[in-house]
Amino acid sequence: MYEYDLLVVGSANADLVIEVERRPAAGETVLGGDLATHPGGKGANQAVAAARLGARTALLARVGDDAHGRLLLDSQRSAGVDTAGVLVGGAPTGVALITVDPSGDNSIVVSPGANGRLAPADVRAATGLLHRSRVVSAQLEVPLETVLEVVRNLAPGSRFVLNPSPPLPLPPEVLAACDPLIVNEHEAKAILGGTGVSGEPADWARLLLAKGPRSVVVTLGADGALVADGDEVTAVPSVRVAAVDTTGAGDAFTAALAVRLGGGASLPEAAAYAARVGAAAVTKRGAQESYPTAKEVEAL
Ligand code: RIB
Repeated sequence: MYEYDLLVVGSANADLVIEVERRPAAGETVLGGDLATHPGGKGANQAVAAARLGARTALLARVGDDAHGRLLLDSQRSAGVDTAGVLVGGAPTGVALITVDPSGDNSIVVSPGANGRLAPADVRAATGLLHRSRVVSAQLEVPLETVLEVVRNLAPGSRFVLNPSPPLPLPPEVLAACDPLIVNEHEAKAILGGTGVSGEPADWARLLLAKGPRSVVVTLGADGALVADGDEVTAVPSVRVAAVDTTGAGDAFTAALAVRLGGGASLPEAAAYAARVGAAAVTKRGAQESYPTAKEVEAL
């Protein structure tokens, strides 16, 4: 009945990455390694991750009519993503300035560029695409009103997955559609109202659930994830790997979770698989280039 297992609505960025020994403090200059340019963006990353796992995937996004836009389109197409929904023009392609330290951790500043021009009208024009998709996922590197329009145009029976990154206060209509809302520690605290939030991750999961989503997943990096729906909070372990670069691992997790949920897995089953996909993604440099195939996940 559905043509696509997953439609991703979201950002596409050129990732400009420099490896550093440590990040500079305010007013400080540090030297880093050679600049590397990779295809990235939370939306584009999710789409490539899902397609690499074998899911029928489409992307609704906006890139600039420039070399970075072509880099992103090439990456989507070589992964097998349907790019008919990728709009071109209106502003330069989004760019992410990324530093990666020796532990594999990163810091990211995004210039949204064309992502900021993905408008509610673009979503309405793509209603056909939305209605042909079993699961629709979004993030917040595109305008919140665009994500709201996605929620308003979902097909009856399709499932909506949101990673609110970077975090913003979410309207009740968006929260109520999330199944699940997927957050890391930083996003959980931001959505719960600041860094003063105390307690354990299981408490955050319960508090987030009380805000209205149908289910919640709290990702905990190397410690796996917590999933919450109904009264249950279930811990899902991760796989121990040597991290080289964590960039985009969360996007791979979200994509894998969305695909598995669409295939009928329970939330804990889908999260366990997604944790393996996220673990595989940190063992290689870059975001999209680091994503495993289904066979590589099995071998992990
Ligand atoms: O989640 C990782 C992504 O965040 C990077 O690819 C970068 O583009 C930023 O959007």
